Amino acid sequence: MSHQKEEKARAALKALEEVQDGMVVGLGTGSTAAVFIEALAAKVNDQNWQITGVATSKRSAELAQSLGLTVKDIDEVSAIDVTIDGADEVDPELNGIKGGGAALLYEKVVALRSKKNVWVVDQSKAHDLLGTFPLPVEVIEFGAQQVYLTLAELNLRPKFRMKNESERAKTDSGHNIIDVRIDQVDDKKALAKTLKAITGVVEHGLFLDICDKVIIGTDPIQTLVKK
Ligand code: A5P
Repeated sequence: MSHQKEEKARAALKALEEVQDGMVVGLGTGSTAAVFIEALAAKVNDQNWQITGVATSKRSAELAQSLGLTVKDIDEVSAIDVTIDGADEVDPELNGIKGGGAALLYEKVVALRSKKNVWVVDQSKAHDLLGTFPLPVEVIEFGAQQVYLTLAELNLRPKFRMKNESERAKTDSGHNIIDVRIDQVDDKKALAKTLKAITGVVEHGLFLDICDKVIIGTDPIQTLVKK
């Protein structure tokens, strides 16, 4: 197993401690969240726990169900106790970039309704400043090129995410993703507002003031907690 994979697995397994019998658990998306889902399913089966999962993507829902976990739609639960998710980048204030796996919209909907958000990451995701990783912006298909031009005018160096050479990638909601570069942007909060105000933008991957705890799977494990 690669060093990075080991750290992801260590963080994901540690996150099991956040879950108790009877909880509604938000299930993140990505390779680290997948390890968590597998470990959670094993625990639920072993301990005969009653856990309800709320998935942040079709693939996480499918994985959880294939392992025997009960998965409900977010509109079928009254509250989400804790969500365990990965991240593409996280800073010391627990702000982050998400959406490398194109699941940012559902991830943010679930995160904003969760009582607690825990991110599980390897050391490579921890940065003093956000912006090494491209920021995903989810846009409706109609007029996506117009949004692209607006993002270019904002000097955000946009790039459509592609499925292959000729086809744009699509999210679970059928939207496109435009990845932008924000390493030159000092005020990330202002940028978040600017992006949300663009007609055609559905959501962006800046998760500011959302995460409560970050588990970094180094040996020993490092934990960052919201102040
Ligand atoms: C999914 O859209 C992302 O927000 C993921 O949480 C992120 O890409 C982390 O993925 P890995 O755990 O595979 O690194």
